[in-house]
Amino acid sequence: MPSSTRHPLSPFVLVTGGAGFIGSHLVERLLDDGKSVVVIDDLSTGSRDNLRAVAQHKNFRFIQSKISAYAELPELAEAAEFIYHLAATVGVELVVKSALHVLEASFSETQMLLRAAAKHSTPLLLTSTSEVYGKSAKPEFGEDDDLLIGPPGQSRWSYACSKLTDEFLALAYAREKNLPVIIARLFNTVGPRQTGRYGMVLPRFIAAAKAGEPLKVFGDGAQSRCFGLVHDVVEALVRLQHSEAARGEIFNIGGTEEISIGELAKLVVDTLGSQSTIERVPYDQAYPAAPLGGGVTGAPGFDDMRRRKPRVDKLESAVNFKPQTPLREIIRLTAGAKLLKG
Ligand SMILES: NC(=O)c1ccc[n+]([C@@H]2O[C@H](COP(=O)([O-])OP(=O)(O)OC[C@H]3O[C@@H](n4cnc5c(N)ncnc54)[C@H](O)[C@@H]3O)[C@@H](O)[C@H]2O)c1
Repeated sequence: MPSSTRHPLSPFVLVTGGAGFIGSHLVERLLDDGKSVVVIDDLSTGSRDNLRAVAQHKNFRFIQSKISAYAELPELAEAAEFIYHLAATVGVELVVKSALHVLEASFSETQMLLRAAAKHSTPLLLTSTSEVYGKSAKPEFGEDDDLLIGPPGQSRWSYACSKLTDEFLALAYAREKNLPVIIARLFNTVGPRQTGRYGMVLPRFIAAAKAGEPLKVFGDGAQSRCFGLVHDVVEALVRLQHSEAARGEIFNIGGTEEISIGELAKLVVDTLGSQSTIERVPYDQAYPAAPLGGGVTGAPGFDDMRRRKPRVDKLESAVNFKPQTPLREIIRLTAGAKLLKG
């Protein structure tokens, strides 16, 4: 696409990773708002099926490609009115299995996109993760907190580090290249279409409860989390796009209703009227330590955070919104039509 030619969908919003769980909800919302949308996705974890509802939409275009492999990326970034960068290797299980892929891919893909966006100062929102808060024991995490990442012998930390590197990179582009960036640190986001394949706890529990199989709780089950419904997260992302004051800033996005994973398992069983039992699985069985080559000594076991709750006052004051759909309702919506009980 020569840069002198207007893109046929101009002006459009570019969504990397738009065939994924959160991306596909975002795409639907943007189209509903009357935007034109271009998705670039390599379908490594996403699927065309997630975009079935919009596939024929006249204002939608899908590009199946890795970001870095798409030759017309500079023109695409130039023609976009806004870029949502969601593409990433996601999910703790996947990350534990292939830290190399996570680290290498994340850095080079994000760097290439930021470089393309910076040429014409196309505003960009980068989705980061609550994992960057690491092992901090604070009851609530605020955007300016220090971050406490675990040792490199535990590959689970490679996800946090790669996202943190993305954040540093994006803010460096903001400062040194005048690129308008917004960083959204997403906490556990759940809802329809999320797959449990990559270790996500709520879809795993819901699938087990529906199938009448045991719900497997890792560790003692006292570790607690908050869950945000994907529609609420998308609402926050869309509002951030339109907030001038959000440029150059970092925002937590997530639900604030805290629940232990043991209690979550019980709530899922109760909400879905399931007959499933609940089983405890030690971390070293759930995530066996991978043998490390090259003389590297790895720390055994798996570091899990006891709590992970966001402060969302910064988000709320910037966009007058915070995710607050109740957890039982989230479970119902995520389980969808195959609900067993009320
Ligand atoms: N789901 C959560 O709870 C959660 C929590 C924190 C942060 N996030 C972040 O939100 C974003 C979206 O997560 P999700 O849950 O929708 O995951 P997802 O795996 O469903 O979506 C990621 C999408 O990116 C695509 N992708 C990966 N690498 C790519 C590349 N190099 N080029 C093009 N496409 C590529 C995948 O095919 C997939 O469709 C990610 O950046 C993730 O780190 C998600």
